[in-house]
Amino acid sequence: MDFTVNGELRSADVEDDMPLLWVLRDELGLVGTKYGCGIAQCGACTVHLDGMPVRACQVRAVEAEGGEILTIEGLGTPEYPHPVQQAWIDTQAAQCGYCQSGQIMQAAWLLESNPDPTDDEIDAVMSGNLCRCGAYPRIREAIHAAAARLREA
Ligand code: FES
Ligand code: FES
Repeated sequence: MDFTVNGELRSADVEDDMPLLWVLRDELGLVGTKYGCGIAQCGACTVHLDGMPVRACQVRAVEAEGGEILTIEGLGTPEYPHPVQQAWIDTQAAQCGYCQSGQIMQAAWLLESNPDPTDDEIDAVMSGNLCRCGAYPRIREAIHAAAARLREA
């Protein structure tokens, strides 16, 4: 099956019903996307598929075939981080870090659709992304900082 991942055409010889998360991590070596619950409850595996955030543990490979997938590895680079990634660094939002690539992918999508979200709007969109460390106040602060960066850009 062929997928466009982070702007590159990638192929994987996988069964139709393999979760996209497995395709990304095990077949394509993109381990920035994390496996948390496996049942669409934690958001650790969030990537964008055709511009929308999805839980990669619940998308079957055949559903993503031919799609445009964006993972944390394609959002920015170490030299040129995405404004959301830079805001995360500036605010030191992460604690253990496990949930953070999913949080960042969800937040990047939020800010594409709402460039100046309120706390309530942030909480609503981010509510499906769990953080076992409880870093929610810092994540919210990072999203406000990212929003300010994006508005300046
Ligand atoms: S691993 Fe996919 S939502 Fe938890
Ligand atoms: S920073 Fe540890 S799970 Fe969120």
